Amino acid sequence: MGQTKLIKSISEMKEIVKDLKIEGLSIGFVPTMGYLHEGHISLMECSKRENDITIVSIFVNPIQFGKNEDFDKYPRDIERDLKICKEVGVNYLFNPSQKEMYPKGYSTFVIVEGLTEKLCGAFREGHFRGVTTVVNKLFNIVKPDRAYFGKKDYQQLKVIERMVKDLNMDIEIIGCPIVREADGLALSSRNKYLSPEERKSALSISKALFKAKKKFEAGETDPYKLIKLIKNVINSYPYTRIQYVEIVDSETLEPKTKVEKGDIIAVAVFVGDTRLIDNIEL
Ligand code: PAF
Repeated sequence: MGQTKLIKSISEMKEIVKDLKIEGLSIGFVPTMGYLHEGHISLMECSKRENDITIVSIFVNPIQFGKNEDFDKYPRDIERDLKICKEVGVNYLFNPSQKEMYPKGYSTFVIVEGLTEKLCGAFREGHFRGVTTVVNKLFNIVKPDRAYFGKKDYQQLKVIERMVKDLNMDIEIIGCPIVREADGLALSSRNKYLSPEERKSALSISKALFKAKKKFEAGETDPYKLIKLIKNVINSYPYTRIQYVEIVDSETLEPKTKVEKGDIIAVAVFVGDTRLIDNIEL
């Protein structure tokens, strides 16, 4: 097991980063909200391969959750997460408090327009404003050379890429492949909420995406037909309630009228009370 140093204070993290920079070491950064799983581990491993130092952050960011969302019950287990970071060989685990991240009087936010109004943004008001604000703050503290994001949150990845480009940040954003369970379910900390019966129904999401991709590869380019196929599969399982199914351009996230290679099928589905997202690149 490696030595992962747990850092709680912003000033301490900044001092460490300052020294790492003086030593000329490259920093890879994996921002997370904790309850780490294989998806996060793949990001950490990627960072370890490409950088001298890997920093992981765990911060359940209150401002990216809506009023009726799961901020309070979001799974938290820092001891378990620290153990995972040690096993993977992460150098620093940064776990700031809410009080220090958003002290009384906090009033600055970062907004990416356009991209954030589509897909999940249409249903989760203020979500991406919360994400870009906290990621910006974390970038200012950790000053990474490279930052790693999972493609499961595809829209988030595109929004962060846009922010980094628009604000001239010297950070390379790296999107890493979705990690799935052997049966196809995309890994997510929220899978923990699923009952065994709901988990069976959640499998309909990846099944539907794989089926649509196959149909596209067999020559179907009509988005409405592919979307219908996906909806039929998901709706045939109990406990599922589709929020959206869209086929979009991989950069602009605009819906397509004719599907092409490289497009993204993105879905959000409630399984019981749990909102799950997934996507597939065609
Ligand atoms: O993807 C997540 O876990 C979060 O949205 C992130 C990027 C850590 C910001 O809170």
